[in-house]
Amino acid sequence: MYNAKITATAYHVPEKVVTNQDLEKILDTSDEWIRTRTGIRERRFAARGETTSDLAAAASQKLLEQRGIAARDVDCIVVATITPDMFFPSTACLVQEKIGAKRAWGFDLSGACSGFLYALATASQFVHSGAYRKVLVIGADLMTSILNPKDRNTYVLFGDAAGAILLEPTRRGEQGIIDFILRCDGSGGRFLCMPGGGSLHPASHETVRKNMHFVHQDGRAVFKYAVQGMAEVTTDILKRNHIRASDLALFVPHQANIRIIDAVAERLGLHPSKVVRNIEDFANTTAATLPIGIAESHERRRLHKGDLVLLATFGAGFTSGSLLFRWTL
Ligand code: ACO
Repeated sequence: MYNAKITATAYHVPEKVVTNQDLEKILDTSDEWIRTRTGIRERRFAARGETTSDLAAAASQKLLEQRGIAARDVDCIVVATITPDMFFPSTACLVQEKIGAKRAWGFDLSGACSGFLYALATASQFVHSGAYRKVLVIGADLMTSILNPKDRNTYVLFGDAAGAILLEPTRRGEQGIIDFILRCDGSGGRFLCMPGGGSLHPASHETVRKNMHFVHQDGRAVFKYAVQGMAEVTTDILKRNHIRASDLALFVPHQANIRIIDAVAERLGLHPSKVVRNIEDFANTTAATLPIGIAESHERRRLHKGDLVLLATFGAGFTSGSLLFRWTL
């Protein structure tokens, strides 16, 4: 039996930067409100015609270059997304074609903001069992495709992006992914959802007229559950692995709101220097926040061989999770 370890990491964001000031011009909002309530300063919006699979493929190409392998070396592609290019074929199939990963199979996974962590845990089992040796795990979302540009409650909170990591088997003596906790609580579904376009309310003039193809959210309720849910999955995973928060080199939380991140970090008693924050630059990119957090930390040399890293997330569903790994590069 092997463990799975991360051997490469990359991300891609669209070129177009949208600042809070830009949003002030089209919505009844202000830079001050957005910054103080969320921590967001700017975000990236995809260009017309740019899709989730385009962002995912671009992140994957960068990752393959970094690892120095060819696309045909990839065995499996798992894409976490709630904004696929279309219901089917899967985004994984589209990415497979775009990057030329001829030998790979793949599938999409829907876990909203927890999607990447769910995908990472799932993919790690393929490596752990010895079934596959190179699994590409992607978190990608084009949130602007499901946001109502007239709804200030949601439009200011999200951005478009993709992040990717490569999982491979550990070598003797390496730890890689150590443990994970995955949870969901379907009773929270009504607080954050996109009600239209599925089998319950197939797309029609009526669903479009009622804006059912956009994200609907009770922000206050989500906020309350997010702090509690993320604090629980982080303390539980530390406890069952007999690890103190002070043993962590880095904490990479989902980037939904700076106040959620700070509240969870404070409950853990973590020094701010150990907490990854990039919500200021990219806003909430849903499934992409965690791989971007890992990739940026690697790029900025915040990760060193042997470091203990904790990922944590909370999102629509409600879904939540935490994952503990040792950095091996
Ligand atoms: N600009 C200006 N005013 C606004 C805006 C805006 N963009 N959006 C809402 N407001 C107003 C509201 O209408 C409300 O006005 P009212 O008091 O006259 O009714 C006022 O601001 C305060 O609204 P609250 O909802 O109390 O503001 P709060 O401090 O809770 O912040 C926020 C709202 C940022 C949405 C927060 O609740 C939050 O971050 N929740 C978590 C939701 C989230 O991040 N979801 C993402 C996906 S899930 C996940 O990733 C965890």
